Amino acid sequence: MQFTIHPVTWHDGEPLLRAVREAVFIREQGVTPELEWDGLDESSHHVLALSNAGQAIGCGRILPNAHIGRIAVVPDWRGRKVGTAILEGLLAYAGNKGFPEVDLDAQVHALPFYQNFGFVAEGEVFMDANIPHLKIRMKL
Ligand SMILES: CC(C)(COP(=O)(O)OP(=O)(O)OC[C@H]1O[C@@H](n2cnc3c(N)ncnc32)[C@H](O)[C@@H]1OP(=O)(O)O)[C@@H](O)C(=O)NCCC(=O)NCCS
Repeated sequence: MQFTIHPVTWHDGEPLLRAVREAVFIREQGVTPELEWDGLDESSHHVLALSNAGQAIGCGRILPNAHIGRIAVVPDWRGRKVGTAILEGLLAYAGNKGFPEVDLDAQVHALPFYQNFGFVAEGEVFMDANIPHLKIRMKL
């Protein structure tokens, strides 16, 4: 494996977590900074992926209410199971916390990524930050 996964607090990981999310959500996907920095990071548990060279290449977070979000992998590293490892790290945290289930607002294009884990979609497609989303949920 050419990368590692690290559980981090916002306090410890902020610059690297910000770098990934700025690259993927703000610059690549056009999410506004106001929507991206929603004030929920300090209370969230974060997972950070680092390449063996020490570069921040991916991230994700889970809120105290078991809502997962902000999963991102920088373009050069996609398709190499970094996203899978990040989501596994978040699900392991949720399991340790005893959460009965987790939910997520998934971008529709990424649905197959989440369905591989057993997430099930519910309801109608909705727009968030001008991107189509579906609510998905999984029992733990
Ligand atoms: C979605 C994302 C996090 C996936 O990360 P990744 O590291 O490329 O994913 P993995 O390599 O772990 O993929 C595992 C499986 O998920 C599926 N998958 C991954 N990305 C997918 C995509 N964009 N569309 C459809 N299926 C996808 C594939 O089946 C893949 O299996 P395979 O490698 O055997 O083909 C990444 O593409 C990304 O950051 N996209 C931009 C930001 C984004 O949309 N985040 C999701 C917010 S809800």
